[in-house]
Amino acid sequence: MTKFPQDHPLFLLPLLDGVHLRVFFVQKTLGQVLLPYIKNRKETYGSDVTLGLHEPTVLDGARKKLVVEFSSPNACDFQGKHLRSAIHGAFISKLYETMGWDVTRINYLGDWGKSMALLAVGWEKFGNEEAFEADPAGHLINVYHRIHELFLPEMAKAKKARDQANKKTREDGDEHGEEQAKIESEGLFAERNAFFKKLEEGDEEALALVKRFRDVNIANYTKLYSRLGIDFDEYSGESQISQKTMTEVEQLLKDKGVSEESEGAWIVGMKKHGARAGTAMIRYRTGASTYLLRDLAAVLERSRKFKFDKMIFVVANDQNVHFSQLIKILLALDMQDLAGKLEHVHFSNVSKTADRMGIGHQPLNVLDQCEEAMLNSLKAEEGKATLLGSSEDVAKVMGISALLTQELSARRSNDHAFDIDAMTSFKPETGPGLQYWYARLCSILKANPAREELSREEYESLAGEKPANLLRLLAQYPEVTHTTYKSMESAVITTYLVNLIEQLQECLGEEEEVEELRVTPVQATLYEATRIVFENAFRLLGIKPVAKV
Ligand code: ARG
Repeated sequence: MTKFPQDHPLFLLPLLDGVHLRVFFVQKTLGQVLLPYIKNRKETYGSDVTLGLHEPTVLDGARKKLVVEFSSPNACDFQGKHLRSAIHGAFISKLYETMGWDVTRINYLGDWGKSMALLAVGWEKFGNEEAFEADPAGHLINVYHRIHELFLPEMAKAKKARDQANKKTREDGDEHGEEQAKIESEGLFAERNAFFKKLEEGDEEALALVKRFRDVNIANYTKLYSRLGIDFDEYSGESQISQKTMTEVEQLLKDKGVSEESEGAWIVGMKKHGARAGTAMIRYRTGASTYLLRDLAAVLERSRKFKFDKMIFVVANDQNVHFSQLIKILLALDMQDLAGKLEHVHFSNVSKTADRMGIGHQPLNVLDQCEEAMLNSLKAEEGKATLLGSSEDVAKVMGISALLTQELSARRSNDHAFDIDAMTSFKPETGPGLQYWYARLCSILKANPAREELSREEYESLAGEKPANLLRLLAQYPEVTHTTYKSMESAVITTYLVNLIEQLQECLGEEEEVEELRVTPVQATLYEATRIVFENAFRLLGIKPVAKV
């Protein structure tokens, strides 16, 4: 402590407090050091990799490569979890990009396998070219739901047989899967499996039909993502995985003695490979490939195509077992290096969105509802509307930021906090709240443009408690983004923004009228720095500011 420079211009003598060493800024000089720094860094403030806070993201002169796979809905079945994944995946992608990574965003559609085959069976029964022509996505969803309804009783019967067989197996140690196998060889099960077989054998007509469905789904989902401000570099999907790579994986599994045959199916007993229990299915006894086999092949194909340093899957926690099996199997194949690059970023799949999406899980309905609620909320808040505007266009932008903010404010392990009334209110922790405070800053800055040069005395006038607290918060921003980068929890940033608003409120007061507020030039510089930090955080969260300076 004695070595610490006395009379340091920026720091007071540190204070020993239990196990902590508390370091305090000299309030008088903080503004003069920090404000020009933020102004110079601008959009890079908070993403400064040169601060040495984290590992370099450039290797041998090239940026490190990250692949993020997210949203990944199934054909005609977009659920709350796919919306959550879309929002968190876009956030994580942006975060890594900001920290210097080269990011590729992939949407891996569930456009193959049993549910796609079921849709095709539905199409044979209920498909109608005219209705399809008029509203392709709507009609397909309709068909899917009709066939799904028909299929439910058969699925229930098969499940019952399976449960009974499992019970018997436990009691007398025998396998009793015959009843289930019988059910699954009849009715819609049989039709579905027959179609899937045709697909995997490369039947051209079947492939063309599935491609048609895929294109309609992509067009429909693209509309949704673009309203959310989300982009993908690639629409991949289970249908895009080559049979050749799957065969390659199967061969490797056999050669290394990882997989074994069991009643005509190919499986991996996971106990041998570090799991507590469980069997992973590689190929069904019908000869059809499994979801897991396709995923193993997808990992190989992507590693060859993108040569990534890291790949993140943003997928709900109902697939925890799946991803842990995927990684353990790669390890069993001696692919330590590849396995080490994969990370499953999971979140709770419990969501209240389903009833809001309406029949057939039409996610666009959800966005319409958020925007409409936002329009009403603006109408009810005249003061706020004067500042922000209340046109439909404004409500659209704000409705989306309401949805994004609510989603990104919840930790991923919490249930999906989907509540339209709450998200469209103007509390500081909401999207509208953030937009409102940002707009206030903009309007102050319009009336009081910041000046280039300021004297030491002017900076020192920020030494009062309130502005100094705001300065301290602004100084914390790089650490906040760093913590977020480590945990990938967007809630760290939204919580920080709420603190920032509270401090700003202290400085500005509650006054609601459009600012005629006069502030000194150095205060204007402080508010400009605050605005920059807001803007940088908005960019990470995917929020488009309504107000401009
Ligand atoms: N389509 C899957 C589902 O809806 C999610 C895909 C996750 N990604 C993967 N590579 N398996 O549950």
